[in-house]
Amino acid sequence: MVCWILLLISLTPFTWGTFVVNVTQSSYQAEENHDITLDWTFTTTAHMSLSAVYIFCQLLTEDKDPVLFHLHEGVEVPESQDKQFSGRVQFDKDVLREGRLRLHVSRLRTEDSGLYRCEVKTDDDAGSDKCRLKVTAAADEPEPLRLTESPEPEIWGLHIGQGLRAAAGFLPPCFILCFAYLFFKNM
Ligand SMILES: *[C@@H]1O[C@H](CO)[C@@H](O)[C@H](O)[C@H]1NC(C)=O
Repeated sequence: MVCWILLLISLTPFTWGTFVVNVTQSSYQAEENHDITLDWTFTTTAHMSLSAVYIFCQLLTEDKDPVLFHLHEGVEVPESQDKQFSGRVQFDKDVLREGRLRLHVSRLRTEDSGLYRCEVKTDDDAGSDKCRLKVTAAADEPEPLRLTESPEPEIWGLHIGQGLRAAAGFLPPCFILCFAYLFFKNM
């Protein structure tokens, strides 16, 4: 119930305007040194020209918010980009016209992990959305990490299942013993 209310409240500003910025995936996981493509979509109109598109993407951190990508009037501004990402981000200009922002980030580092926000602005409208990226160290096995995210229900299910099966195995001999006891007692 509370979740629904929160969801409705968070969606309300978007349903008012016609301009929407969405992430196609709200979280990504990748291994260090691998590449990833972060994907946003935004509302386009037939008359929208690329020279009216402004995009600003940052990694949100506690102290500074390093800039991942900056597009000004449809032109990339590499000078704005933080050193952390320099030379590692490519954007797909062809799909931009269709309202897709695809940022290809290569040679991932563990410090690239975090929350990324992209703001898209056109002449009349603006919007933003966030996605989370988790970069695991190359030595780490991502499999156990994923397992630890939801261990309780499975383990409990397993234990209860085993307990029930054991109990079921015990019951018939108990009944037989009880009946035998009553039978012989009454003789
Ligand atoms: C954004 O997401 C909403 C809900 O999933 C969807 O209805 C809408 O078409 C999306 N808009 C864009 C521009 O991707």
